[in-house]
Parts: sequence; C-alpha cells; structure tokens
Amino acid sequence: MERTFLMIKPDGVQRGLIGEIIARFEKKGLKLVAGRFEVLPEDRVMEHYAEHKDKPFFPGLKAYITSGPCFLMVWEGKNVVSITRQMIGATNPAEALPGTIRGDFALEIGMNVIHGSDSDETADREIAIHFKPEEIVSFEKIDEKFLY
Ligand code: PPS
Repeated sequence: MERTFLMIKPDGVQRGLIGEIIARFEKKGLKLVAGRFEVLPEDRVMEHYAEHKDKPFFPGLKAYITSGPCFLMVWEGKNVVSITRQMIGATNPAEALPGTIRGDFALEIGMNVIHGSDSDETADREIAIHFKPEEIVSFEKIDEKFLY
C-alpha cells in the first residue's frame, strides 16, 4: 500500500488544528500508521528541505519550521500522495481552494499549516528522513473491507 509523509507545521499545532486535520484524512478512508510530536532538529530540516536551501525564503522557512513542535505523520492508502496533496491544497493559501486544508485554514505561504510529500519518491525519502521502520505500524483496520 502507498504511503506519504505529512507534517502539521508549528502554526497548525499552535492553532489547535491537529484533530481537525487528522479527522479529514481519517474520514476520507486513509490510515494513520505513525505519528510523533517534535521540534525539528536543524540537521533534519536541512535534509528535508535540501532542494530549497539556497532559495531566498529558506531562512524564514527554517525559522518558522523550528519555532515550535510539528506533528509528523505517515499515512497509508490507495493513491495517498495525490489524494492528500489535493486535500491540502495549493502551497500558497491565497490560491488554495475552499474545502482544502490551506484554503480553509491559512492566509499566507509563510504559515501554510501543513506539509505533504509531492510524489511517491519524495514520500519514500521523507519517511526515511523522519521515521525509523519500527515506528511505523502495520495493522488491518476494520473499515478497509468497505473501502477496497
Ligand atoms: S519552489 O521555489 O517553487 O520550489 O518552492 P515551493 O514548492 O513553492 O515551496 C517549497 C517549500 O517552501 C515553502 N515556502 C515558504 N516558506 C516560508 N516562507 C515562504 N515565503 C515560502 N515560500 C515557499 C513552501 O511551503 C514549501 O514547503 P512545504 O513544507 O513543502 O509546504
């Protein structure tokens, strides 16, 4: 089954959006298989956002993402990467459609509430950066027989 890495950023945690966000993915039928609170250490921020380290916004992004605890998750399900990206909405909340997480809960790109892997390859890479294999559970949820 496909997996993705999702991370509720410090603004989402501080604004009490964890439950709302998890509920949306659960109701969709996706399965939460790992979760952890953490203030991200610098080495993992650099690894996670390596492709953006020379961008002008990177210092601000780094300060924001380490400003408080994030809630890191691994989710599982059919087409989970594309489905969660659609549910999260455009990177810039000003362009995110109503009904998406960023469309409903965010105003600007510097505080966009949640990160989601953008491809299967990125998901594998990001899961490996943030989780050990033994932190990810494997179990059959009772509702799966009504989803697949
Ligand atoms: S790019 O340049 O098009 O590749 O960048 P983009 O894909 O739009 O964004 C990459 C990640 O950087 C975050 N970002 C920002 N954070 C803070 N401030 C500003 N101005 C800013 N611009 C982009 C953006 O949310 C992406 O992070 P994730 O965690 O993937 O959402």
